[in-house]
Amino acid sequence: MAFVWPGIAHVAKMLLSGVTRFKSKTVARRPITALEARMQTGNIIPRQRVSMSSPKLFEPLSVGSLKLANRIVIAPMCQYSAVDGCMTDWHLMHLGHLAVSGAGLLTIEATAVTPEGRISYADVGLWDDQTEAAMARTLKAIRQWSDMPIAIQLAHAGRKASTDLPWLGGRQILPDQPNGWQTMAPSAQPFQSGEHAPVAMDREAMAAVRDAFAAAARRTARLGIDAIQIHAAHGYLLHQFLSPLSNRRDDDYGGSLENRMRFPLEIFDAVREAFPADQAVSVRVSGTDWVPDGWDLEQTVAFAQALEDRGCGAIHVSSGGLDPAQQIPVGPSYQVPLARAVKQAVSIPVIAVGLITDYDQAEAIVGTGDADLIALARGMLYNPRWPWHAAAHLGASVSAPNQYLRSQPRGFPDLFDE
Ligand SMILES: Cc1cc2nc3c(=O)[nH]c(=O)nc-3n(C[C@H](O)[C@H](O)[C@H](O)COP(=O)(O)O)c2cc1C
Repeated sequence: MAFVWPGIAHVAKMLLSGVTRFKSKTVARRPITALEARMQTGNIIPRQRVSMSSPKLFEPLSVGSLKLANRIVIAPMCQYSAVDGCMTDWHLMHLGHLAVSGAGLLTIEATAVTPEGRISYADVGLWDDQTEAAMARTLKAIRQWSDMPIAIQLAHAGRKASTDLPWLGGRQILPDQPNGWQTMAPSAQPFQSGEHAPVAMDREAMAAVRDAFAAAARRTARLGIDAIQIHAAHGYLLHQFLSPLSNRRDDDYGGSLENRMRFPLEIFDAVREAFPADQAVSVRVSGTDWVPDGWDLEQTVAFAQALEDRGCGAIHVSSGGLDPAQQIPVGPSYQVPLARAVKQAVSIPVIAVGLITDYDQAEAIVGTGDADLIALARGMLYNPRWPWHAAAHLGASVSAPNQYLRSQPRGFPDLFDE
């Protein structure tokens, strides 16, 4: 029997009714989605149906025993909401909602290994039983509802410590003022001219900081956190040792590149030794100071190679933060060339970060091999379901909590993992 085309509007109406009738035969179908109806009219072609290859952004990756479902990392973000180093209910809310975002890895904010290592008095710490217990409480709650791997960034702010909260101006607080303390650094040079100078660290102070990093790593292991990221970027203590602009020492820890890397590498070794061997210890670096004669890409590559030789799990490439004279060419993906250069020099995974906001942009970074993973900070605060939207856009699937499964858009029936 000849089939007579009934016209697009009529077909759409039939399909939308949930029942398709051809002549007298009735075929029960699932109801068509609005998106499918638009496809019928040729208005829209969903990406997942035309994509011939699966997106790299949603390919799993293993780093040691750490198994990441995709290449999206939530970058560490200070919340300035702790009390005496202890996480509060804010952290439970903040980390809790990020833990159901579908990202591959959640990184806990810069966590100070000593009270003096905090950027501000409201930073999170992990230096005693109280700070450990507060973090354990947060993690226990999150773990109940999310199996997203969690990393922690262990940090010491050095001369950039003892500041006010960003939303109160973020200025340095003097040691004799409430919520202030004496800062320390490789050399007695302040971050900004006019600021109260840090005390130059002697060998005893350096050993104490090194031991504090190791102790925090042991607490991290006890907390069941999956990976550690050592903060050696953004002008904080380890970066202060690396950069010739802030390290003016004339002992074994200053001068040549080898000497300037010595203390950060000792910290790495101490943390590596204190953390289970199969669990990743990664390092966040600034790829450049963006200041002439400062820390630069060539030195970053040498540092990354030295870290790889010592068993570093991954390198996270950010930039800047050491010197107020920095001239940063801010724009989309502006730090990706730094990550690419490091990636070409090492064989461990490299993470790119900085103004990565667009789904195709992220896919291009990992798809072309500029980096193995991408990290997002502000984009995740603005849109905490960024990984869901990226998966929908790129035609991949992503995990969602059972409680939210019904939010899956009808046009993307395979979006959420089974
Ligand atoms: C609120 C906020 C807090 C941050 N805290 C940290 C931190 O604790 N440790 C760190 O290394 N970087 C920190 N950063 C920098 C981010 O991790 C990230 O490198 C930077 O924002 C660039 O990425 P984005 O363009 O995706 O935001 C913070 C950024 C923001 C916006």
